Amino acid sequence: MATQTFQHPLLSYLLICIAFAPLVLSSPTTLNVIDACWRANPNWALNRQSLADCAVGFGKSALGGKFGNIYVVNDSSDDPIDPKPGTLRHAVIQTWPLWIVFSKDMFITLESELIVNSFKTIDGRGVEVEIGRGPCITVQGVSHVVIHGIGVRDCARGKPGLVRSSPSHVGKRMGSDGDAIKIMASSYVWVDHCSLSHASDGLIDVTHGSTAVTISNNYFSNHDKVMLFGHKDGFVADKKMKVTVVFNRFGQGLVQRMPRVRMGYAHVANNRYDEWEMYAVGGSSNPTILSQGNYYAAPNNPFLKQVTKRESGGWKKWKWRSTMDAFENGAYFVQSGWGSCVPSYTPSQSFYVAKGLSVPALTADAGVLRCSVGKSCV
Ligand SMILES: *[C@@H]1O[C@H](CO)[C@@H](O)[C@H](O)[C@H]1NC(C)=O
Repeated sequence: MATQTFQHPLLSYLLICIAFAPLVLSSPTTLNVIDACWRANPNWALNRQSLADCAVGFGKSALGGKFGNIYVVNDSSDDPIDPKPGTLRHAVIQTWPLWIVFSKDMFITLESELIVNSFKTIDGRGVEVEIGRGPCITVQGVSHVVIHGIGVRDCARGKPGLVRSSPSHVGKRMGSDGDAIKIMASSYVWVDHCSLSHASDGLIDVTHGSTAVTISNNYFSNHDKVMLFGHKDGFVADKKMKVTVVFNRFGQGLVQRMPRVRMGYAHVANNRYDEWEMYAVGGSSNPTILSQGNYYAAPNNPFLKQVTKRESGGWKKWKWRSTMDAFENGAYFVQSGWGSCVPSYTPSQSFYVAKGLSVPALTADAGVLRCSVGKSCV
């Protein structure tokens, strides 16, 4: 038998630290395909509009304000009927494409829902912008809207009243129901790197025949009904809905609907689920769901291990499929249906989906990033 050499425990600990130091320092984040498109570029702030080329999935072609002017918001005040130049509302109602940025950190409390017109990008990179403590964002009957890098939280119901939706139109609104981002009858919408928490209704709702939507790199926390896709049972306009949910982190204090889908199709890929208080992925009205390469960590409660929840009977034929998912702490996905369930992306929409176990690294920077102008954002 070889003689045992004595090693002080601290020494072996130090040796291990030295051996693994480079690994530990470089591995917390793996830039996912969307982030790899822009974050390493130290000149991102001089080329803000190149972000428009970085989406994947069904919202890939969302132009936002690409090819438009840069609009600098410098005033956090709000007037729903007659917005002042320099305010966010004045920017989003314009009819031309605009790439909207912010001159400084600001917290914007809106007097009524913010009605976003087509061809707008709201780009919070480089400053800290939050919207909340009042009504929040409505994307209704428009196309090509990108919302990137802002916090949306503590959204509340609005009061009925007049709200301007374009330079030439003021309409009577019933008052928003308290969603953080409400997407209705709209297409080509991309929500990326936002931090969303605590609203009086949903955090992101996609309804009333919306389609071509990508929801990526967001950090969701502390909320009951996280995401609703599909207005209501029997609302057939939502059959055409296609949504990609990718690289998001579903963090603490979330209860249900990550997402809850009706009628349409959802590709739920490479998201991280830290827990849920009811379920993660659910739906009714025969939706089609491909769950691919997600990281599902179930809560400790032994009765809450199932990822999925069907909100009505007759679901055996619904196509809900799980592939490459990682299941932690006893999580399990109940599949149903038969036949193909793949998203049938065009070549430009399609992206590499990693195995579920890689997702913690791919989602490590979900939510609002802290980017500095003149430096790469990694
Ligand atoms: C804010 O922006 C508006 C619109 O571009 C401009 O008219 C105004 O002068 C700006 N105010 C300040 C304080 O920079």
